[in-house]
Order: sequence, then structure tokens, then C-alpha cells
Amino acid sequence: MSRNWDLLKKEFNDRIASAPSLQALEQLRIELLGKKGSVNALMQEMKNLLPEERKDFGMAVNNLKKSVETAIAGKLTELKENELNEKLAKEKIDITLPASDFTYGTLHPLTIVQQEIEDIFVAMGYAVVEGPEVEFDVYNFEKANIPADHPARDMQDTFYVDVERLLRTQTTAIQMRVLEAQGNKLPIKVICPGKVYRRDDDDATHSHQFTQIEGLVVGEGITQADLKGTLELFARSMFGPQREIRLRQSYFPFTEPSQEIDVSCHVCGGKGCSTCKGTGWIEILGSGMVHPHVLDMAGIESTKYSGFAFGIGVERTAMLKYGIDDIRNLYLNNLKFLRNYKRFD
Ligand code: DAH
Repeated sequence: MSRNWDLLKKEFNDRIASAPSLQALEQLRIELLGKKGSVNALMQEMKNLLPEERKDFGMAVNNLKKSVETAIAGKLTELKENELNEKLAKEKIDITLPASDFTYGTLHPLTIVQQEIEDIFVAMGYAVVEGPEVEFDVYNFEKANIPADHPARDMQDTFYVDVERLLRTQTTAIQMRVLEAQGNKLPIKVICPGKVYRRDDDDATHSHQFTQIEGLVVGEGITQADLKGTLELFARSMFGPQREIRLRQSYFPFTEPSQEIDVSCHVCGGKGCSTCKGTGWIEILGSGMVHPHVLDMAGIESTKYSGFAFGIGVERTAMLKYGIDDIRNLYLNNLKFLRNYKRFD
């Protein structure tokens, strides 16, 4: 039996060359080279041949097989390339299309106010120091002159973590750490921003978590006049150059004497309005001369050195500055509310 191998090869190659798709080519590969395919069928015919015919026949089938394999591989590359080119053409990006809207985030009003306060004091040469929110009772209370039985502990109802640790109730805790760590490197001039926690029921003016900025200056010859001048400059930078301040006698365990600082109302200019509840004055912070006992406990000679300290409520400052009447708005993460506040320098 003789065959026209060349014709067969041509027929197979033509069919491969005209395969329209990868799928069609795969079908063709199975049809030609698969187990039940044409090439294998030819192989099967070998056993019906005379032994002397087998060698030539075998070589011819192998030849055919190789040629089919090469043709399929070539066609496969060609079809894949075509497919890729088509895809690239289809997915071409039209750079003339208008871009979709870009939404900008804004800083949270508390962050804005905290940064503003920090900037005012950094410009006066203060360093910014932070401390842990889970704090030892010792720093939060003991070293701040508030021993275990002190009634001031009732004013700051505390979340305790265990017998000696708590969520700090005041950034005064950082002040105590700074006094201890830097007592031998005077003068000290720092502000200490941070979150504080108290077991308060949340309402329009109270929150179980809020933000304070503590200030501390210690050195030789620091007086009440330094305190007053510094806080007056702060009040004017924050609430406007026309502002006046007044010092009102107060009590804090860690300062002696202690004063609350009021600023003349920035809304009515001091005439009396709803923001200042008709008084013309608004309380903005607590302050005082660092208690000599606090200095002594930190190993700082209170006969030689003195200092002043203050504590600013960031939420309160933000509410005053922006006319926000409910502290809870600062924690609701309502974008409509938050987008109203931008910092303008
Ligand atoms: N720690 C006080 C509080 O949380 C605020 C305060 C008042 C801090 C007077 C001070 C200060 O450093 O001198 O209410």
C-alpha cells in the first residue's frame, strides 16, 4: 500500500493554517495528534504491513507527525499574538475622556485645633512630648500631689486597668513624667498633647474620652508674670489680637497658687452673649505655679527652681472657636459635619 505522504502533509498543514481560533486549533490538534487522532490511526496500520515495509512507513508517519506538531505550534503563537493585539486595540485608553471627581479629605477639627495650639507654643520654643494612655496611678495621681485618699480623685472618676494602672484622666500625668525624666536638665519648656479618659456620662458638654494639652515650664526665676504673659499670648493667638485675659483664683492639687484663665468673649467682644452666657468672659484653661511638693517629689529643688503649668481642653477650644454646641459632634465621624472645618493659615 503506498500513500502520498506529501499530499497528506499538505492537507493537514492547510487545515492548521486556516484554523480561525485557538479553540478550533485545539480541536484540530486533538483530531490529528490525539489518541484517536489521524496520526495515531496511521501508526495502527503498521501492524498490517509486511515487515520490510514497516521501516519506511514508520519514518513517514513520524515525519508527518513532526510536521503537524511544528505547524500547530506556529499557528498557536500566531493566534495568541492576534488575540493579544485585538485585546490591546480594544482596551486602548481614551485619554481625552474627562476624569472622574477627586474628593479631598480634610483634617479633623480636633486635629486642626491641636496643631494650631502646638504651633503657637512651638513658636515660643516649647518642645512637644507625648506619654502613654494606659498610665500608672503614680504618674496620674500620686506624683501630681493627689494621694489615694485625696478628694480630687472623685473629681476625675477613673477607668482602672488593674490596681496600679489606669486610663490616664489628665495629661498632667505626662507633666509628671517630664519632671522626673528632665529634672536634671533644666530649664524645661514642653507641651504634652494627648487623649484622656474619665467615667463620665456623655452629654452635650461631657465625653468619656477627650483631649488635653498640658504645658510645663520649669527653671530658675519663673514667676506668675511669665505664666500670665504666656497665656495671654496664647489666648490672643487663638481667639484674636483684641482678647483680654483674667486670672481667677482656683484650686488644683499640683499647682499653688492655681488660677483658671478666662478670655474676653470672641463672639461679642465682651459685651455679653449666649456663647459667654452674658458674662463677657469664657473660661479656657486651668493653670498655676507648679506646687513645690511636686517639684520635690520629682527631685527638683523647689527652693531654687520654680515653674508654671497649664492644661488646655482641646474639645472646648474647638467648640468655642468654631461655635460647635455639642461635643458629641466631634466623635460621630459625620462627613457632612467634618467637611465644614478647614485650617486657613
Ligand atoms: N489636669 C487638670 C484637669 O484635668 C488641668 C490642669 C489644670 C492642668 C491646671 C494643669 C494645671 O497643668 O496647672 O482638669
